[in-house]
Amino acid sequence: MIRKPLALGLVAVLALSGAAYSGGHGGNPAVKARKAHMQLYSFNLGTLGAMAKGEVEYDAETASTAANNLAAVSQLSQRGYWLPGTSSDDLPDESRALPALWQEGSKAGEIGGKFAEAAAALAAVAGDGKDAMAAAMGPVGKACGDCHEAYRKPRN
Ligand code: HEC
Repeated sequence: MIRKPLALGLVAVLALSGAAYSGGHGGNPAVKARKAHMQLYSFNLGTLGAMAKGEVEYDAETASTAANNLAAVSQLSQRGYWLPGTSSDDLPDESRALPALWQEGSKAGEIGGKFAEAAAALAAVAGDGKDAMAAAMGPVGKACGDCHEAYRKPRN
């Protein structure tokens, strides 16, 4: 009977560390990580978009840096943060990732591959002038849009 309180104490400690790992007030860490990944896409594409639209003057070095970042982030393995059980149905207050992303027939991996190819092609020419950069942005933006249309829940 001495053991029982000890065992309960251990369970309580594990439960507490579990709560800390899941981020406490910060939410699910896998969802946070993939949103951060997306934010890096968004920031770097935004830099290129501002130059393409003429809001900011084209600068070859800035364009190359942003496109290289986009391509580099697209090469990161995302396996650890697109975890089953973290969809918009499972975590409606945290995620907009539709369950279809994990279901059989999901094209998310394929679209991600096309995105990575398009980002590499953009990185190769982003420093070659505004027109070359702008032309290569099309397939990149299309891949973002294709994936969001199919696998990201619209905002309510
Ligand atoms: C292969 C699929 C896929 C591709 C490619 C993709 N996204 Fe996403 N994106 C998603 C999904 C799914 C979500 C919703 C994630 C969630 O809420 O759990 C998302 C969410 C986002 C968000 C919201 C992040 C947040 O903080 O809530 C932004 C911004 C975003 N994407 C930008 C981009 C941009 C820009 C690109 C292209 C440069 C891109 N995404 C490419 C699937 C994709």
